[in-house]
Amino acid sequence: MKAVWFLVSCYILSMFIQSAMGGKARHFKWEVEYMHWSPDGEEGVVMGINGQFPGPTIRARAGDTIHVELTNRLHTEGVVIHWHGIRQIGTPWADGTASISQCAINPGETFLYRFKVDKAGTYFYHGHYGMQRSAGLYGSLIVDVAEGEKEIFQYDGEFNILLSDWWHKGSHEQEVDLSSNPMRWIGEPQTLLINGRGQFNCSLAAHVSNSSASPCKLRGNEQYAPHILRVHPNKTYRLRIASTTALASLNLAIGNHKMLVVEADGNNLQPFSVDNMDIYSGESYSVLFTTNQDPSKNYWISISVRGREPRTPQGLTILNYHPNSASKLPPSPPPIAPRWDNYEYSKSFTNKILALKGSPTPPPTHHRRIFLLNTQNFIDGHTKWAINNASPPDRFRPDYDVMRPAANQNSTYGSGVYMLRFNTTVDVILQNANALRANVSEIHPWHLHGHDFWVLGYGEGKFTEKEEAKFNLKNPPLRNTAVIFPFGWTALRFVADNPGVWAFHCHIEPHLHMGMGVVFAEGVRRLGKIPNEALGCGLTGKMLMNNVNN
Ligand code: C2O
Ligand code: CU
Repeated sequence: MKAVWFLVSCYILSMFIQSAMGGKARHFKWEVEYMHWSPDGEEGVVMGINGQFPGPTIRARAGDTIHVELTNRLHTEGVVIHWHGIRQIGTPWADGTASISQCAINPGETFLYRFKVDKAGTYFYHGHYGMQRSAGLYGSLIVDVAEGEKEIFQYDGEFNILLSDWWHKGSHEQEVDLSSNPMRWIGEPQTLLINGRGQFNCSLAAHVSNSSASPCKLRGNEQYAPHILRVHPNKTYRLRIASTTALASLNLAIGNHKMLVVEADGNNLQPFSVDNMDIYSGESYSVLFTTNQDPSKNYWISISVRGREPRTPQGLTILNYHPNSASKLPPSPPPIAPRWDNYEYSKSFTNKILALKGSPTPPPTHHRRIFLLNTQNFIDGHTKWAINNASPPDRFRPDYDVMRPAANQNSTYGSGVYMLRFNTTVDVILQNANALRANVSEIHPWHLHGHDFWVLGYGEGKFTEKEEAKFNLKNPPLRNTAVIFPFGWTALRFVADNPGVWAFHCHIEPHLHMGMGVVFAEGVRRLGKIPNEALGCGLTGKMLMNNVNN
């Protein structure tokens, strides 16, 4: 009895120490390397971590400190890893953005990422140097509620899926294609991957679809065999979904099952029920679903391309009801996604995303409003995505016609760094426009590092100050990624309260590579001593250290 009490009090004491020190330390030793892999049945080269693709899943509790000792085994190129959705409060040098928060880690060298995961939620990590995310450098990062706390939603089990898209052409060749003159577009992905697994040139649904695809001949241990979700009847599951696609916007559905959307980007939502959902690159969600369908069957889980004319087959896996065999294929075809260009459908889904009651609300007014016009331009004949036809002014010309190809299609290079006064409230109005060709305007999911922002609203055409009356200040969702629809605008608000230098960019890898991003620098003077290894090279860090006046 005494021993038990001793153990119990030790446990209580350790809990105290843990919470006083803010959670546990979790240590990881990772090596990044190129490996031969068959993500979709065709062998190619991926960037893996410790011999795995996708990289290992990090699982932690809110308040824990993550230590990742990352060694670059790539031989001829640098590497960094960005922890997407983690705000890096007080540790901006661990944000993992090459040339913004740190220098790329040289071949053979090791860098220690040490940062706190302060908020429960569904996140992921990925390479942020060149097009290394396209090369497959990514994995999941799941943060559970702090020790002793309860999730606010009840469920019996959970799954985690990370969505991506895959090209047979290597990422280096893609980089050369995009930056050549004239630009060569990379085209649509060959395959959509669920947890790094997809099927090229064969279909799991061949027996029920009328396409010409042949059935997949899979053995269970194949690298491209689908990751099956095994469930029991009459239970509720949480499905965590994150998208790290290079290009594709997706729509996800579970055949016959409704989904209750409860989390977005690590923030709780006012739950709403859907048959399928859109997910853009850089976003994450949690949905709850109940296994209340005919238990003698299995069901499809499908992802389909949205917003671009699809040339890529659906990505598929199976919801496997116990005790059915996992190889028992669903008897009906996979769910049909809304038409790729049905933007009204996307907008109505997006407009349902609202913060759960009791979530933090935005300051009622802003100190500064930055307008970022997204245009496709030529710079010396190279195709680029420019912001305000050259950064960094706060606004673009008021007579700019967002509905037509630009009269002057040229742009210039700018530094794109915005200095924000510490602790001020900043609005960003993302303004979409016509791309180079007439009647073309693309989707761009913009992602902010170092913060969550409130999404105050979406609108059509060119933003005017009148639209401010329509801003949602009552229950706007907090997110780290928000989409701008074709020919539309999106209004965001955040508080510049996290000293550091933060990237803000379109999460479509080729768009970022073609210039679609800016940098926000705030309160840099307030940073304590920056670890030396994070300052060894790179213009931005040094420039900011020397020249910051806020
Ligand atoms: Cu997930 Cu700067 O991106
Ligand atoms: Cu974009």
